[in-house]
Amino acid sequence: MRPYTLRQLETFLAVAQETSVSRAAERLHVTQPAVSMQLRQLEQALGSPLLEPSGRGIALTGAGTELREYAQRVVFQLTELDNVMAERRGASRGRIELAIVTTAKYFVPMLLVRFRKKFPKIEIGLRVHNREAILQLLARNEVDLIMMGRVPDEIECIAAPFATNPLGIVSAADHPLSRRRNIDLRALKDQQFVVREIGSGTRLAMERVFAKHRIKPRIIMEIPSNETIKQAVMAGMGLSFLSLRTARQEIAAGHLVLLDIKGLPLIRHWYITRLKTKRVSPAAAEFERFLLEEGGALVDAWS
Ligand code: PGA
Repeated sequence: MRPYTLRQLETFLAVAQETSVSRAAERLHVTQPAVSMQLRQLEQALGSPLLEPSGRGIALTGAGTELREYAQRVVFQLTELDNVMAERRGASRGRIELAIVTTAKYFVPMLLVRFRKKFPKIEIGLRVHNREAILQLLARNEVDLIMMGRVPDEIECIAAPFATNPLGIVSAADHPLSRRRNIDLRALKDQQFVVREIGSGTRLAMERVFAKHRIKPRIIMEIPSNETIKQAVMAGMGLSFLSLRTARQEIAAGHLVLLDIKGLPLIRHWYITRLKTKRVSPAAAEFERFLLEEGGALVDAWS
């Protein structure tokens, strides 16, 4: 018998992915001392330190990096085994690892509630990051499905649109442009913009729209959070280009105004996406089917 366990390997992988014992503990729903103990036992069993402090976080040692390679393959194989066995039992149980871009968090919890009403035995692990971080998870094969606003060109995947994603420019309610009609995008060239961070899908969409009209927006602040951007715009910091799915309530309440700009809102789509080589579990296939059949209408009614 090996002197280490699968649980220790999975704990180690979670710490390596999160680069933090506390975040790994949160993700695994266990206490921090439980994670530390698993790591200590694994290090003792393998006879090498696996992690070391680095800045404010932790980093993998050489042995840790090597172990991660193998542990990922082991866990991947076992996930496949779970899927094959789940297939034999039927699709109504299993676990889906889902990663979504930050902008999708305005409607995904609602979709998960609706889905779990139909399939209460399917568990879902949810991760929320910006587009770039989600693509890394996908490339490392750490998730079953991802949800984002544009199909990646750099990774071979299968993507299906399930809902629309309108993007537009919002201002504070008392902004002089808020009452103007049919504004030309070029008229915004001297306006101040609060924008999402590089690596965000929203930022990418904004840059494409501005580049198409040969305008360089005056960016006065970059903020990696839709929530904080909305507060900044409401407080009068400037305009922002956002997915309208993130701002429905503020627009309905009159705290934000969707500017009436020619050619906007831009209508893009939300895609459910997976690696082309991924073997789809029955649970993941059920979730994809649910999104394609019901997702669009549910999202429209919600956000
Ligand atoms: P973001 O993604 O949250 O990274 O801006 C939005 C998108 O993919 O369209």
